[in-house]
Amino acid sequence: MWRAETREQLNAITRRWRGEGLKTALVPTMGNLHKGHLALVEEARREADRVITSIYVNPTQFGQGEDFDNYPRTPDSDVKLLMQAGCDLLFIPEHSTMYPFGLENPVRVQASPDLAATLEGQSRPGHFDGVLTVVARLFNLVVPDIALFGEKDFQQLLVIRRMVDDLGYGIRIVAFPTVREQSGLAMSSRNNYLGVDERAAAGELYAVLRQVADHIRNGRGDWQQVERDARTRLESLGFRVDYVAVRRTKDLGPPGPADLDLRVLAAVYSGRTRLIDNVGANRVGISGE
Ligand code: PAF
Repeated sequence: MWRAETREQLNAITRRWRGEGLKTALVPTMGNLHKGHLALVEEARREADRVITSIYVNPTQFGQGEDFDNYPRTPDSDVKLLMQAGCDLLFIPEHSTMYPFGLENPVRVQASPDLAATLEGQSRPGHFDGVLTVVARLFNLVVPDIALFGEKDFQQLLVIRRMVDDLGYGIRIVAFPTVREQSGLAMSSRNNYLGVDERAAAGELYAVLRQVADHIRNGRGDWQQVERDARTRLESLGFRVDYVAVRRTKDLGPPGPADLDLRVLAAVYSGRTRLIDNVGANRVGISGE
């Protein structure tokens, strides 16, 4: 596996690959790799000739009081896992490579407010601007044909797709289903913050979201009551609920009676750990709607 830390090192390799007509795929990560990330690398292997994984804990997407300083950093085990997964190039930049003019006043990308102001964006103001600011920089530096993102961060996926379409990046965005632990808990680097009992109980979040999705499939259309019931259920399981919401899959807007393709999304706290998850819930059309 090749390794690049600077723009020059990265360019030397990717330019050669482009010159040889090889198709490249980028898997952007913040490191502390788990099976969810490795599934993206494996999918990238199937989709492209060369796989590039970036590891960069991006300060501009963390709000004040969030876990930037404590975010788990495990470069040695990440390197081993990437080699086993068949990654061709690890891009592991310093701040000065990603933000050459410093972190105080970088050129920023602003996420489309219609997609980004709700749910995660409401709870974490500025988060998606930070995500797009670094993803745009990664796209500009790596110039991949394809980039892969997990569906666990569903709103992030939509916000990135919109940036790609709106700014005209010629990059195909591939979404990959959430990889879960046996309990149903979505894989996440932040699961490391959970205590043993919290981790055992955290799979219940997925179980509740699936129940909501089943209710919707069975014809329930009173979203607000469905959301309230889910909140009560999650609270009774010991979670502190940030939001649990039924939304349109395509733009996360509130669904109308004719919307069939829906998503149930939630953010909860287990102790001090914030967990997010989502599931799809396709309604069957009901005559007269
Ligand atoms: O999903 C993540 O790990 C991050 O938000 C990303 C896309 C790597 C940008 O820092």
